[in-house]
Amino acid sequence: MDEPKTQPIWVLLLSFLGLIFLLKHTAFVLRWLFITFLRPAKNLKKFGSWALITGPTEGIGKSFALELSRKGLNLILVGRNINKLQNVSRDIHSKYPDIQIKIVVVDFSSRDLTVGIRKIEEAIGGLDVGVLINNVGITYPSAKFFHEVDEEIWMNLVRVNIEATTRVTMAVLPGMLKRKKGAIVNIGSGASVVVPSHPLFAIYAASKAYVDQWSRSIHVEYKDQGIDVQCQVPLYVATKMVSKVASIEKSSLFVPSPDAYVRSAVRRIGHGEPRCTPYWSHSIQWCFAYYFIPDFILDDWRLSIGLDRMHASEHL
Ligand SMILES: NC(=O)c1ccc[n+]([C@@H]2O[C@H](COP(=O)([O-])OP(=O)(O)OC[C@H]3O[C@@H](n4cnc5c(N)ncnc54)[C@H](OP(=O)(O)O)[C@@H]3O)[C@@H](O)[C@H]2O)c1
Ligand SMILES: *[C@@H]1O[C@H](CO)[C@@H](O)[C@H](O)[C@H]1NC(C)=O
Repeated sequence: MDEPKTQPIWVLLLSFLGLIFLLKHTAFVLRWLFITFLRPAKNLKKFGSWALITGPTEGIGKSFALELSRKGLNLILVGRNINKLQNVSRDIHSKYPDIQIKIVVVDFSSRDLTVGIRKIEEAIGGLDVGVLINNVGITYPSAKFFHEVDEEIWMNLVRVNIEATTRVTMAVLPGMLKRKKGAIVNIGSGASVVVPSHPLFAIYAASKAYVDQWSRSIHVEYKDQGIDVQCQVPLYVATKMVSKVASIEKSSLFVPSPDAYVRSAVRRIGHGEPRCTPYWSHSIQWCFAYYFIPDFILDDWRLSIGLDRMHASEHL
């Protein structure tokens, strides 16, 4: 008879908070499943009939070239090795004979990029370049303490990862602004976004932090002018670069092949997301690291991988 009919207020409050927490996380997971597996890709031809890709002769860039030509876009391929560029172009033509391809030879580690950028501007003159993939990027040949990195190596890295990406975008953006449409994809890295530090590859990680923050800032600058800027963040992808720095030779569940990675990456273009991790198992790794592993453990883990790599390369 004298049992209370209603719960004390704090129990109600706690249940209410628990419910909100649960709904929030369920919504988060459902949204992720939708975006990652179900949401249809944009028709990229709506941005323009040409795409420009930097570093299209290996790895992720080469897969972008193939996937975008499969989507019916004509290509401007910008790389440093004419033979490799011609080979990629020939491979694409044999699969998709209707695609037009222009080749521009630029070494992005040149001391003076003025000539290279002028060549790019000449190549794109009059073309409606709707998609720009700023893919080119390099890292150290092997893990190194910051003060031991050769000037030649880090200056090249800064030129390729930061200066070239900035200058190529400066060259392509005015045309997009005139046409009021375009999609720009900048390839960042888990090295600057996912882990709290990236010891022994410090300048590489910092260059990718530039790409990330620059990209997200200009996303906001141009989002109301029809131009969608996006920083895509891969974790490990089985390319030449990764075989060097992490001795990963083959693709696996957590390390996709460049083709598998890029199929997901292309589906993310043009949806108005400032930053994304396109590949599903990369998102899971990121989530796991973020929620379950304290920073100091991630720091030590990265350091031990770097030291391993350093010693391996010393014994070559
Ligand atoms: N693979 C990964 O796990 C991973 C993870 C995070 C971020 N990323 C980023 O993804 C992008 C692509 O990486 P990837 O793994 O595909 O690299 P990759 O296999 O080493 O390919 C790099 C591409 O860039 C070109 N390149 C390199 N230096 C150049 C220069 N000085 N001038 C012009 N072109 C140059 C290469 O041309 P050549 O064929 O002539 O060498 C090649 O086409 C990079 O920005 C990288 O930082 C990769
Ligand atoms: C280009 O393709 C030809 C023919 O398949 C091959 O012999 C050559 O080694 C390739 N060149 C490069 C730089 O990959």
